[in-house]
Amino acid sequence: MPATSLDTIVSLCKRRGFVFPSSSVYGGLGSTWDYGPLGVELKNNVKRAWWRSVVHERDDMEGLDAAILMNRLVWKYSGHEATFSDPMTDCRACKTRPRADHVFAAQKGRDPKGLPEINAAIEAKELVCPKCGSKDLTPARPFNLMFRTSVGPVDSGDDSGLVYMRPETAQGIFVNFGNVLDTMRRKLPFGIAQVGKAFRNEITPGNFTFRTREFEQMEIEYFVRPGEDEAAHEAWIAERTNWYLKLGMRKENLRVREQEKHELAHYAKRCVDLEYRFPMGWSELEGIANRTDFDLKAHSRSPENPDAVGELKYFDQEQKKHLVPYVIEPSAGADRATLAFLCDAYEDALVKEPPAEETTKLRDLVESFAKSVGRREGMAAEVKQRLVSSAEGIVAGLPGTLPQLIGLMEDAEAATIEVMKKVRGVGEKIAEEHTRTVLHLHPRLAPLTVAVFPLKRNDPRLVEMARGLKRDLQRSGVRAVYDDTGAIGKLYRRQDEIGTPWCVTVDFQSLDDQTVTVRDRDSMQQERLKATELAPTLASRLT
Ligand code: GAP
Repeated sequence: MPATSLDTIVSLCKRRGFVFPSSSVYGGLGSTWDYGPLGVELKNNVKRAWWRSVVHERDDMEGLDAAILMNRLVWKYSGHEATFSDPMTDCRACKTRPRADHVFAAQKGRDPKGLPEINAAIEAKELVCPKCGSKDLTPARPFNLMFRTSVGPVDSGDDSGLVYMRPETAQGIFVNFGNVLDTMRRKLPFGIAQVGKAFRNEITPGNFTFRTREFEQMEIEYFVRPGEDEAAHEAWIAERTNWYLKLGMRKENLRVREQEKHELAHYAKRCVDLEYRFPMGWSELEGIANRTDFDLKAHSRSPENPDAVGELKYFDQEQKKHLVPYVIEPSAGADRATLAFLCDAYEDALVKEPPAEETTKLRDLVESFAKSVGRREGMAAEVKQRLVSSAEGIVAGLPGTLPQLIGLMEDAEAATIEVMKKVRGVGEKIAEEHTRTVLHLHPRLAPLTVAVFPLKRNDPRLVEMARGLKRDLQRSGVRAVYDDTGAIGKLYRRQDEIGTPWCVTVDFQSLDDQTVTVRDRDSMQQERLKATELAPTLASRLT
């Protein structure tokens, strides 16, 4: 079962060095995160797997790494200066500034069709402030999401040095279309791929790394002849869906959703979202849009754009004429994909039953937790309902529900109930002894591929052989670590929790016959392999 609560993933990420709150020595900076030693390996593997699939394994793609800071005119003619905004309203009573489209959707039960419809509802006093309930809301105004900065040593204050931190990597690809076409002598259809940071001054960041103000995108702009765009769109939807599935994502947690007309960005003719069933519900993982010829035309010299130096078009040898290609854009988030793979891979499993008296003690405590939640004043009704039904489900199924109890013990809202301290006092010890946390990450995504242990750390022969094996594995390109800081059982648990697919133990038999034990993370089966065959065998399992 994948993670059912984001708190469980956040807690694992902090505990095991995947992701830390940013600038924590100064109290942090809301919704910004730093990838730690294991997180950077995982995210790099996600980006590498994407690059390999969309650039190296295809014959019709090129790569690019464009600058983050671009001429401001790029954002003027792309339409972002005028339209890349969220509608905000001010509550005159409590002085908060909620997102007006979210207020509309929550209170009317559907998305608004645009700013005029939101403002008509505000004027008719049909919407209320979600914080204080007042109907005294200002008309909604667009709030631009692009971060501004200035180039040059002096900020003259007149916007002459104004540049934006790019809000999407896509525009770097469009403005390089001609460069790539000319230098690589490409024929349609072909595409350009890019991975890089993007910045948006999001009004409502949150859900851990799902929505942040600084994030990484993995984008493709795929150029086709007009008329061939719809078939190419379908092909990319299938291709990108399969990428997630091939890397182990569960089919039932991935779905394709057609965007409705009013949701479409200003440049899109059609857009399909690949959505993942995150613990907080189905949410966008990747958007695959048909951007038509909007962007190449927008950056071409014309009466509407006197600033462009030339035209972004393609000479069709067959038809002996110039044309402006259409563009299919599969646009994924590296952080979102990493989070989705983490949630999907997560499992807390019961490995042996605890003694009956321990189960009874725990059941009584969880029961009294449920009662305390019921009596608690000032807690939102839906939070109460969620905690009570989760606790009741756990009570009914113990000890089989110990894995779910781990999620409840890490829930930030559950922690505000006094009796949770007692639940944790008893529950954590039982969970530690009777469950195991495993990340069933695809071997190509796992931060570490192999961990090598000596059976006894005080035997120099075992240590020397284990260290040598680690070095050999690493030299053959298999990510390996050496560890001797605990008993083998404990070392296995640690590696399971971070998703290492294989653990290798060097024991006394190894000294005689040069074989080692390889233990598989998912099946927990052990096999004996020749030390010399280890690197090629594991490397072959990685493909
Ligand atoms: N060029 C098209 C484009 O940028 P988008 O739907 O706004 O489209 C594409 O973004 C992907 O980038 C999203 O599907 C998501 O994975 C990621 N993304 C967008 N905003 C994000 C944010 N604030 N935090 C993390 N990832 C984000």
